[in-house]
Amino acid sequence: MEKEIFEQPEAIKRGVSGRIDLEQATAHLGGLNMSNRDLLNIERVRITAAGTSYYAGMVGTYLLESVARVPCTVELASELRYRNPIVERNTLHFAVSQSGETADTLYALRELQRKGATVLGICNVVGSSIARESDGGVYIHSGPEIAVASTKAFTSQITVFYLFAMLLGRMRHLSYEAGLELARELQVIPTRVEQILAKQKSIKELAGKYAHYKNFLFLGRGINYPVAMEGALKLKEISYIHAEGYSAAEIKHGPIALINEETPSFFLVPDDGLKEKVISNMKEVKSRGGKIIAVAVEGENSLKGIADDIIEIPKLKNGLFYPFLMVVPLQLFAYYCALDLGRDVDHPRNLAKSVTVE
Ligand code: G6P
Repeated sequence: MEKEIFEQPEAIKRGVSGRIDLEQATAHLGGLNMSNRDLLNIERVRITAAGTSYYAGMVGTYLLESVARVPCTVELASELRYRNPIVERNTLHFAVSQSGETADTLYALRELQRKGATVLGICNVVGSSIARESDGGVYIHSGPEIAVASTKAFTSQITVFYLFAMLLGRMRHLSYEAGLELARELQVIPTRVEQILAKQKSIKELAGKYAHYKNFLFLGRGINYPVAMEGALKLKEISYIHAEGYSAAEIKHGPIALINEETPSFFLVPDDGLKEKVISNMKEVKSRGGKIIAVAVEGENSLKGIADDIIEIPKLKNGLFYPFLMVVPLQLFAYYCALDLGRDVDHPRNLAKSVTVE
């Protein structure tokens, strides 16, 4: 798992490689099997997946709606397949799966196709069942992912959604300048991720300080809300520490009752339009005695006296790209907590890399 966390800059580079067209300020995704006319006719996008791939899909919904202005939803494959889903016209479906073999996702794809849907795959494993049975798709090219807990597949899957949102956006209202800004930001992400990986030692120390806690909250908003969910999932999967991922805004509707000195909260604090809102959520936790670990942009002064610990991430020009930088410290934190507790990180109990049965 450690190796795969550290492979992320290279994996993202591979996912982007040959797919960005700076001249046209757009992306090229060869395997879609769709003409520009087909792409133009898309009125909505629906994504289905399981586990970490589902959270990558959630990031995808924010991107498709904000960058491409195409309505987009995500649904767990295990739910979709049994609820007699409605297949609408001019709707593009994505099945997202690292392995391409997850039974729920594969059966959801078949159910959608049986009803006449066009389903594209976003897979890592070449020639996998979902890759073969889908109507086209995009390989994430993150290289073999062996550890049970998915890490580099997540950042590679969201890379594909940034590219696809760029492509669709540039066929609609997105200007050349705006497209170029997105393309350039995506190209610098591998370097920014490397900068975070270089903080490995301090994140390890932080994990040593917190690994004995029994419950954690992971809180984010907007496009970083799915990242909070993914951070909680990572911690549960490999360290067996109970963690809940939540929208920072939603804690007042329940989870705030869990806050005391024994329940630390991770807050994801990007410097985007939601920053002030997140900080005010943080103060609510602080005033109830909860310990706070913030993942925040370098030089952010407003957290002093609120956060107990801060993991700094590089500042980005475009706030939409923070999921890449927010998720990496959470992966490392989960990894080092698990090591600290003596867990078998690569073979966590009760879990399988690929769940090919129901
Ligand atoms: C299993 C794995 C998870 C993974 C999920 C979906 O539960 O343990 O790490 O996220 O399956 O897998 P997929 O291969 O479809 O992305």
